[in-house]
Amino acid sequence: MLSTPPRWAPPEGAPVKRRGGLPTRSHATARAPSTAPRGPSKQPPQEPKATREPLIELSGIYKAFGEQVIFEDMDLTIYEGELLSILGESGTGKSIASKMAVGLVQPDDGQVLFRGRDVLEMDRDELRKLRKEVSYVFQEDALFDSMTILENVGYGLYEHTRMSDDEIRERARRSLEVVGLEERVLDLMPANLSGGMRKRVGLARAVVTEPKIVLFDDPTRGLDPQSITRIGRMIADLRERFKITAVLITHDLRTAFAVSDRLTVLHDHKFPYSGTLDELRALDDPAINDFLYDPDAAMRRRWAEADARHAAARMVPPVE
Ligand SMILES: Nc1ncnc2c1ncn2[C@@H]1O[C@H](COP(=O)(O)OP(=O)(O)OP(=O)(O)O)[C@@H](O)[C@H]1O
Ligand SMILES: [Mg+2]
Repeated sequence: MLSTPPRWAPPEGAPVKRRGGLPTRSHATARAPSTAPRGPSKQPPQEPKATREPLIELSGIYKAFGEQVIFEDMDLTIYEGELLSILGESGTGKSIASKMAVGLVQPDDGQVLFRGRDVLEMDRDELRKLRKEVSYVFQEDALFDSMTILENVGYGLYEHTRMSDDEIRERARRSLEVVGLEERVLDLMPANLSGGMRKRVGLARAVVTEPKIVLFDDPTRGLDPQSITRIGRMIADLRERFKITAVLITHDLRTAFAVSDRLTVLHDHKFPYSGTLDELRALDDPAINDFLYDPDAAMRRRWAEADARHAAARMVPPVE
């Protein structure tokens, strides 16, 4: 939790995206409208002026699991070369959105364009090419427990290239070096590593194939503050070195603010706003301010409301 958020001056990027107002839907949780005017900071609706080429465009996405609607009329654009952070409450669909962006999850409706080409219309060869460009750091570190770290990190190279064992070992060694792990770690098993080291191995594995796009799904969850800071620096460093387009899903604002060009908040089944931190804060929208200042506040408020409801339900009329 951050009481005083770090000041961060975003570089020039694609301007804030603002969809025309938040929709009302029968299933949507009713939100009290903002009454008192909150200063002159609200910007008029505007479309993004792309200073960079869109790399991935999700538009008009609908996705549900049974009765549970995850996305409704959701749009999201990821620009070539940017680092976009996705913020939002747990369980709202951040991981699903990022997997959808790279064709790992299919929408029920809507379009996913990769460099302007519809992912759903791609043939096997095109999909194979796309997957070669993309690397996904899964939320759970997802290491193969029965394989050494070398086999884990080098997996993509063993499977998809004709590199010799020596070449793969060298590439794996260099990737580990980038995330601050020594060569000796290559011969250990995942069970021999701490949680933070496993996360770093996950990052090394993601970049060993020299992908163009890396999705980091909550890479700092459950780590101590020092490790969180270190992983944040590594993400910035990896991005610089490999010139990747990156999507970072995180609950850690400090990391998000430190490394992102743009941020977006998943709210009410869509990404209503995307932009630099300053642009999002200038909107001063109560629905997303919690995520830009104190993401725990919304959760605490809901718990307090639930507690109050339960307490009210437990109250029995006093016996005369
Ligand atoms: N294959 C699936 N079948 C049914 N429901 C699913 C499936 N995958 C995800 N969900 C549900 O979709 C919702 C969104 O999941 P998702 O993993 O994207 O959340 P998230 O925003 O990444 O949360 P967190 O911050 O906790 O990682 C959750 O309620 C989850 O239970
Ligand atoms: Mg997730």
